[in-house]
Amino acid sequence: MKNILITGGAGFIGSHLARLFVNKYEDYHIVNLDKLTYAGNLENLTDIENKSNYTFVKGDICDGPFLKSLFEQYDFDGVMHCAAESHVDRSIKDPLAFIQTNIVGTANLLHTAKNHWEGNFDGKRFYHISTDEVYGSLEMGGGFFLEDTPYDPRSPYSASKASSDHLVRAFYHTYHFPVVISNCSNNYGENQFPEKLIPLFINNIRHNRPLPVYGKGINVRDWLYVQDHCTAIDVIFHKGRLGETYNIGGHNEWQNIDLIHLLIKQMDQKLGRAEGTSKELITYVTDRAGHDLRYAIDATKLKDELGWVPSLQFEEGLSKTIDWYLANQTWLDNVTSGNYQKYYDLQYADR
Ligand code: NAD
Ligand code: DAU
Repeated sequence: MKNILITGGAGFIGSHLARLFVNKYEDYHIVNLDKLTYAGNLENLTDIENKSNYTFVKGDICDGPFLKSLFEQYDFDGVMHCAAESHVDRSIKDPLAFIQTNIVGTANLLHTAKNHWEGNFDGKRFYHISTDEVYGSLEMGGGFFLEDTPYDPRSPYSASKASSDHLVRAFYHTYHFPVVISNCSNNYGENQFPEKLIPLFINNIRHNRPLPVYGKGINVRDWLYVQDHCTAIDVIFHKGRLGETYNIGGHNEWQNIDLIHLLIKQMDQKLGRAEGTSKELITYVTDRAGHDLRYAIDATKLKDELGWVPSLQFEEGLSKTIDWYLANQTWLDNVTSGNYQKYYDLQYADR
């Protein structure tokens, strides 16, 4: 039995990743370490919470002594590091929280794992999950991000993620610490906190609330279904070459306003509204400060080296995602009201 640590496993991507690994690898014991910030929600994991190869631990990656004792307790064989502050708008309002968790927390985790594994890195692996935002902003029609595109982060969020990527690589080069990194484009899917574009707009359309489009809505993002991101992480965790970086993306660029029109079309249909009814909710608002114009990933290396390609077409994935949110209004109500904390208190506090 291998002990694998997933950090941030109660969040959006981490919960899908934990589910994939718990169900697919019965010979792995998955330990999910999460601080349960506003973005961490154990209701995302009810279907696996009682599995014998799964353990949840509440804790903070910034707490060095706690991490040391966790490594002593479980003697981890591998780490998949998802824990982070992840929302760009929050990083503009409160950059220090991002520097703390994303930089100091990652440094703590690297330091603890290195000390624990010291002298015997054989078979060990530290996988750092990162973002395409570290590469900066592309011009319209101006090429793609490659693994060797120079870093040019422009928000406190992307700068903190870029710093953490640099630390991970520094540990590889300095200590031969066994790392692998991936940088992924925008994820969408079930269980994403409704501060991000797609779940926020799904919730607002449903309740006839305004849809705040930043600037002119011309910015471009490259969208990937979250479970496709997780299958890429699975392949890279097992087969990626140490010290390497792999870009992950869906080759699926959408200008925000076009995506919003597609969302409105699908939702009006599902809600039994006349086509285009919800367009009147579109409200152009002040642009995000330093708003990156375009992200677009070239994932050829991952395809050629490890054979990964995304499985889902965007229209289908978006429809599936909308259906999930429409069927899970209680989940949305709980996360927007902060009620999800009660789930931990009820189910875990006395464990
Ligand atoms: P999320 O905000 O949904 O989840 C983050 C999780 O980390 C939460 O469960 C939170 O409780 C936990 N956490 C935060 N601070 C912590 C701390 N100090 N100690 C322990 N746990 C802590 O984020 P997400 O969207 O799932 O992103 C996960 C990772 O993937 C992040 O590193 C992010 O940068 C990266 N990423 C996200 C996307 C995307 O589109 N969402 C794309 C590419 C990369
Ligand atoms: O590219 C990967 C990144 O994608 C991840 O690293 C981040 O963790 C993740 O949050 C996401 O960042 P974005 O800033 O691209 O995602 P967000 O959903 O916040 O915004 C998507 C686009 O929609 C962006 O151009 C801003 C715009 N937007 C967003 C919100 C929340 C709006 O126009 N209105 C909104 O209310």
